[in-house]
Amino acid sequence: MLDLTDTEKDCIRVSWSKVISAPQTGADLFYGRLFEESPETRKLFKSDMASQGLKLMQTINAVVDNLDEDLSETVLQLGTRHQGYDVMEEDYAKVGAALIWMLDAMAGSDFDQSTQDAWGKAYGQICTVMLRGYA
Ligand code: HEM
Repeated sequence: MLDLTDTEKDCIRVSWSKVISAPQTGADLFYGRLFEESPETRKLFKSDMASQGLKLMQTINAVVDNLDEDLSETVLQLGTRHQGYDVMEEDYAKVGAALIWMLDAMAGSDFDQSTQDAWGKAYGQICTVMLRGYA
């Protein structure tokens, strides 16, 4: 499903390993940034943010663990559920910006420009498939 070079996959794996060693910190940084920069997204989240944050980190972890697998059916269904959460197309860029910011904060010197570009590319491709899941 993801069209990435082996170098891009390596960049993603190396930087993610820094984040996943402290998933709760990653989730807290991510939502803190999202709600500061895009407060209008706060009302979309109805459930408890601690469990929501861990679900998000687990999902990204599953994608990073399966960069060579075809996850399109799972991601399409995730997209259909997000339509049900009232997530609009324009919200994806807000989440993408908070995700890149959190990765930069947590991966430190491993988060160079090629790593940022690799994440941007992967995230863009995932969003495209999620939006294809909208009816
Ligand atoms: C790559 C992109 C994304 C991934 C991997 C992702 C992942 C998830 C996961 C795993 C859940 C748990 C529920 C489920 O599986 O259906 C969820 C729920 C949710 N996501 Fe996302 N998401 C993404 C993008 C977004 C965007 C752009 C928004 C918009 C702000 C968003 C808002 C929400 C909301 C509102 C919920 C439901 C929360 C609740 O139950 O209160 N997500 N997401």
